Amino acid sequence: VNDQGRSTSGSARRTLWETLTEALSYLRGWLTTFRFDRRALVSSHGPTRIVKKNGRIEVGDRTRLWPHVKLSVVGPVGGPPAELIIGHHSSIGDYTQIHSGRSVKIGNYVLVSWNVNILGAYYHGTGGEEEQPGDVIIEDHVWIGCGVIILKGVTIGRGSVIAAGAVVTASVPPYSLAAGNPARVIKETKSWNGR
Ligand SMILES: CC(C)(COP(=O)(O)OP(=O)(O)OC[C@H]1O[C@@H](n2cnc3c(N)ncnc32)[C@H](O)[C@@H]1OP(=O)(O)O)[C@@H](O)C(=O)NCCC(=O)NCCS
Repeated sequence: VNDQGRSTSGSARRTLWETLTEALSYLRGWLTTFRFDRRALVSSHGPTRIVKKNGRIEVGDRTRLWPHVKLSVVGPVGGPPAELIIGHHSSIGDYTQIHSGRSVKIGNYVLVSWNVNILGAYYHGTGGEEEQPGDVIIEDHVWIGCGVIILKGVTIGRGSVIAAGAVVTASVPPYSLAAGNPARVIKETKSWNGR
């Protein structure tokens, strides 16, 4: 028992368990990257659904994929491949879906919470016409709150925070807090990690 009244053997066991769990998540992540277009030191905490047709996916080192993330990258038949590029040290929360029909780029140190939908492709036109996918860019150090929906054509500037439940229909400048449906900039902010 140490001076904080905790069993040292218990905390050693916990540390070993945590280390093992972390190692397993990196093993699972590394195996997941065999379905991507670049091997990387990704950590994966549960199943990832991947739909890739005429598309390419790259995820950077130390990025975490939480359970039940869906990555769908579907380029036009006979056209240029769609892409999904996620940087390093980012995190994609549980049940988040990212759809790319052209280009979706997520930067480094980006925190995407759970149940977020990033829609670079809508799959249907409102009048029955063929839909034209668009680009989405999420710059470094952005924090996307839970339940946010981001539509095609949007750029979210470096260090911005998107409040929970927002529907982002237009670009957000750097270091801004945006909230609501449609999302509006409420104030200037610092990035979630102070960078
Ligand atoms: C963005 C957030 C962190 C608040 O940031 P903050 O800088 O502390 O902002 P404040 O609480 O001072 O709110 C500023 C204004 O935005 C409004 N606001 C805050 N969150 C909002 C939301 N999700 N939707 C709509 N408006 C919101 C507040 O009502 C306030 O409005 P007012 O000035 O008229 O009173 C918080 O609202 C949020 O979304 N939290 C959830 C984060 C999350 O999803 N975490 C999951 C783990 S990653």
